[in-house]
Amino acid sequence: AIRKLHARRIWDSRGRPTVEAEVTLSDGTVERGIAPAGASRGTREAVDRRDGGKALGGFDVQGALASMREEIAPLLIGRDPFDQAGIDAALIALDGTPTKERLGGNATVAVSLAVLHAAAASRGLPLWRYLAGEEAVMIPLPEIQIFGGGAHAGRRTDIQDFMVMAPKAKSFAEALEVTAEVYIAAGRIMAERGLLQGVADEGGWWPAFSSNEEALDTLVTAIERAGFTPGEEAAISLDIAASEFGKNGRYVLGLEKRELDRDGMAEYLLGWCRRYPILSIEDPFAEDDAEGLRLFTAAVGDHIQVIGDDFLVTNVALVEKAVLDRSVNAVLIKVNQAGTVSEAKAACEAGRRAGFGTIVSARSGETEDVAIAHLAIGWHAGQLKVGSFARSERMAKWNEVLRIEEALGSKAKFAGLGVLPLGAR
Ligand code: PGA
Ligand code: ZN
Repeated sequence: AIRKLHARRIWDSRGRPTVEAEVTLSDGTVERGIAPAGASRGTREAVDRRDGGKALGGFDVQGALASMREEIAPLLIGRDPFDQAGIDAALIALDGTPTKERLGGNATVAVSLAVLHAAAASRGLPLWRYLAGEEAVMIPLPEIQIFGGGAHAGRRTDIQDFMVMAPKAKSFAEALEVTAEVYIAAGRIMAERGLLQGVADEGGWWPAFSSNEEALDTLVTAIERAGFTPGEEAAISLDIAASEFGKNGRYVLGLEKRELDRDGMAEYLLGWCRRYPILSIEDPFAEDDAEGLRLFTAAVGDHIQVIGDDFLVTNVALVEKAVLDRSVNAVLIKVNQAGTVSEAKAACEAGRRAGFGTIVSARSGETEDVAIAHLAIGWHAGQLKVGSFARSERMAKWNEVLRIEEALGSKAKFAGLGVLPLGAR
């Protein structure tokens, strides 16, 4: 049974406060869960409880810590840590709001993850194995950021993530090696051209481009400089994060000083899909533009993965609706968008059942917690998105998957491109 919940304020990768839940079981197991934090959040996702005011930029979490100490701890003590669904249902009921704004989604997600870690540790199992049981698992296909933009780089580009995938890699280790070559080549090119301003929130190069297309062209050049053929060993994946610059069917590209309507936006992106080796696109239209997404997915869905992130916010009902509407063909899974482990798992399973691509994802504000590496494997997600190839809150996750792949040895089955929901395959 759960004997104790300790709530602690710690700090995330942006140097902002976040909450850590430490759960003690009666068998002596002590495990922790930590809330990550987004910067480009969907309006329907679980809300972090922040204190506001002047101190610490308004980001302090004393309110969320109080939720944990005063309300969640009494609810948790004595409960069975293996009953994740029951505990998460109790958290949802205790909060009583659709977006967990009362207790704070940061409080509920930290507790929910801590319970999960404690249950696995109490059984003496790695988290991925606790989740998967005896079922065979896949090592996920990674998508890894090379340039950061949007809300993660002072809006230096309109597009948020310029990423690579390694379509021909035979293992996770090989996919990381391909990515590392491209990341290094891209950094050198940026430095040579005087376009390098540092690294963005998720570790990708912080660029000084004068158009979004310059980022795409530079990425292609980096893939070539690394010795690869674009679209072969390394292909492109984008997170447009269009909700950050689009609303009511209007899209304002600040970098290029252009405003596009839905059709113009579709033409802009479809032009890229014709000219660049793009395998996957996330949130190509804003979260309020289901029609734009539906038309876009109909146009490219048999050869490009179209992911809903802000659009679906890891919400099972929204995923089920998207399956019926065919507005996207893949879903990003972020546990803190839902606010509990069980809700995120339900969203992931709904996507998987429907043949959607399922991608477990980090947030732009992260910590040393590597839970998502295990969730991607234990939930059979097939894909993992963690940010870039620098900064240890990112590398900790990639390195964790490397260890799991090594431990599985010949039983490690690398996901490969088969996990993309592409009709043409
Ligand atoms: P966020 O964005 O974590 O800053 O909200 C990440 C993403 O859009 O995938
Ligand atoms: Zn996104």
